[in-house]
Amino acid sequence: MIRHLLSGGDLDAGTATEILDTAAEMATVAGREVKKLPALRGRTVVNLFYEDSTRTRISFEAAAKRLSADVINFSAKGSSVTKGESLKDTALTLQAMGADAVVVRHPASGAPHRLANWLDGSVVNAGDGTHEHPTQALLDAYTMRARLGRLAGLHVAIVGDVLHSRVARSNVLLLSTLGAKVTLVGPPTLIPVDWAARAGVGSAATDADPGTDVCYDLDAVLPGVDVVMMLRVQRERMNDSYFPSAREYARRYGLDGPRLRRLPEHAIVMHPGPMNRGMEITPEVADSPRSTIVEQVANGVSVRMAVLYLLLGGNNR
Ligand code: NCD
Repeated sequence: MIRHLLSGGDLDAGTATEILDTAAEMATVAGREVKKLPALRGRTVVNLFYEDSTRTRISFEAAAKRLSADVINFSAKGSSVTKGESLKDTALTLQAMGADAVVVRHPASGAPHRLANWLDGSVVNAGDGTHEHPTQALLDAYTMRARLGRLAGLHVAIVGDVLHSRVARSNVLLLSTLGAKVTLVGPPTLIPVDWAARAGVGSAATDADPGTDVCYDLDAVLPGVDVVMMLRVQRERMNDSYFPSAREYARRYGLDGPRLRRLPEHAIVMHPGPMNRGMEITPEVADSPRSTIVEQVANGVSVRMAVLYLLLGGNNR
């Protein structure tokens, strides 16, 4: 097993599958009256959150508690970070308190990698800037496998603000390792130029990468996919205007009822949350039986239990 989980690219197919299989076992705990295993008793997990979060923070906390770890929740607001304490000094403080694992969310891409150099324990990236969010990719893969029975050979469309999405980046890396094909869909302004180039699309086209495709036309992609993953338009990370108006965006790239009906019968709709209802997804779609949005949240706890268990208590310590 690896020591840190920083990127979707850290996992080979064997390790990723081991995490998904362990998560399936962890999921049985959620159905019990006492939702607890003693696996991480005496271990300390610190949740270090420098950026807002609902699902991910609560999910990691629930996961660590279900494994009986001691959990310390640190949020930058109300800490000495507001007095200017550096990430390194905060890390050394956590180290002195005996943190076995640090789960970190940070607005700066690469912050978890820096932390991993300073700490003896394990570091789990819970989202760094616009870079990566590997446990989200794992819970998405888990949800696809649970609903559709496999990952190899699936066609997954990831739609919307790909440029600012750490969820998209981690999913592309993990899904290609697990044998799924990904098509990135969005306005040209919100698809990273290098990804479009690698997919052979646009003026900078280079040798095509067979695993990842780019398409600017959502309607053309929908009839051929098994999964459509909608991304939130991340206005907090946008200084400029990337599209003419919210209405125009919704018209071209929003998933609504008529578009839902153009998907194959078995296809599922995913969204990592939080949603902009009415922008990238209509309430009709978000609340439909084809949507796995609530399941993704539940699966997130099982997947994070598996990650913490394998990093800390699992087979090599
Ligand atoms: C995502 C995130 O924070 O990266 N949400 C999540 O973790 N469930 C996606 C987003 O903010 O849009």
